[in-house]
Amino acid sequence: MLVLGVESSCDETSVAILRDGKEVLSNVINSQIKIHEKFGGVVPEVASRNHVYQVSLVFKQAFEEANVKPEDIDLVCVTMGPGLIGSLLVGVNAAKTFALMYKKPIIGVHHLAGHIYANAIENEMKFPLVALLVSGGNTELIYMKDHFSFEIVGETLDDAVGEAYDKVARVVGLPYPGGPAVDKLAHQGHDVYNLPRVYLNDGSYNFSFSGLKSAVINLVHNNNQRGVETNKEDLCASFQASVSEVLVNKTFDLAKQMGVKNIVVAGGVSANKGLKERFNAQNDGTYNICIPSIKYCTDNAAMIAAAGYYQNKYLKRDFDLSLNAYASLDLEDFSTK
Ligand code: KG4
Repeated sequence: MLVLGVESSCDETSVAILRDGKEVLSNVINSQIKIHEKFGGVVPEVASRNHVYQVSLVFKQAFEEANVKPEDIDLVCVTMGPGLIGSLLVGVNAAKTFALMYKKPIIGVHHLAGHIYANAIENEMKFPLVALLVSGGNTELIYMKDHFSFEIVGETLDDAVGEAYDKVARVVGLPYPGGPAVDKLAHQGHDVYNLPRVYLNDGSYNFSFSGLKSAVINLVHNNNQRGVETNKEDLCASFQASVSEVLVNKTFDLAKQMGVKNIVVAGGVSANKGLKERFNAQNDGTYNICIPSIKYCTDNAAMIAAAGYYQNKYLKRDFDLSLNAYASLDLEDFSTK
């Protein structure tokens, strides 16, 4: 089965073609990072305009690289939300146009299901599992008893992890997106700044990162006022240690409580080396921990095609050209139960 995936929820225009949800024939990604870098973050209107410039070129390149014809596609899958509405609409309309022209079935895919199913490309997803989803807009702990069964057990009460990384990077003077830059510096420093570990201690699996972010900002401002130099490497190492410790401990706690042996990590922040290292260091061999390769961690259409392949198999829905884009979208609405 040849599946076409289309992703445009933020600042990446991406089109992929996958065979049977696994074999990636092409995964073309046009990133706008260079365009948004000077603004220190994604400017929604600029992002949607660039998707319009890029989308047909990315479609063309995806078909050339996969060496297949549009007529060969069996199913079209497109991110329908959540995300920036102007950006989403470009991908949704391009995918619908393709489906209409070539008379192909089309389904809308939830962006977070895409991140989770990035793990199905290189590995076999084994159930039940606990998914830690960490991206620029989301931080969630999800229990999946089977394919396309999503139960959100915990989520952030304020900032998403990626957002906290990006804000900390800005304070430290690192370029956008901050995650990779903070991750790199963290490996050159030590956890000496004694930053808070926020566990909430309310028996929930929720997260909060705004206090940690404020602690970093206050530390830098206080040091500036006193003329004390802040060691960037140590600050990044301290921030990363605090974030990864809480994420990893809460994930293991949930897995233990649910009696689950399989853990998948997903979303842009799953590219974080510190997070991977801590998961591996704290795994006593009990858990099967799956983290995608970096190319499938951040936004890409291969993960949307993979998720769409399984969605089509397990969550029977009508193919419908009235498909629309939604800035907010509930993952549990895409669940079989
Ligand atoms: O999943 P993604 O590409 O887009 C969203 O759907 O949000 O995630 C982007 C986020 C950004 O906040 C970026 O700083 C973060 O992922 N990120 C990282 C790393 N690589 C990307 N955060 C920490 N460490 C990294 N290595």
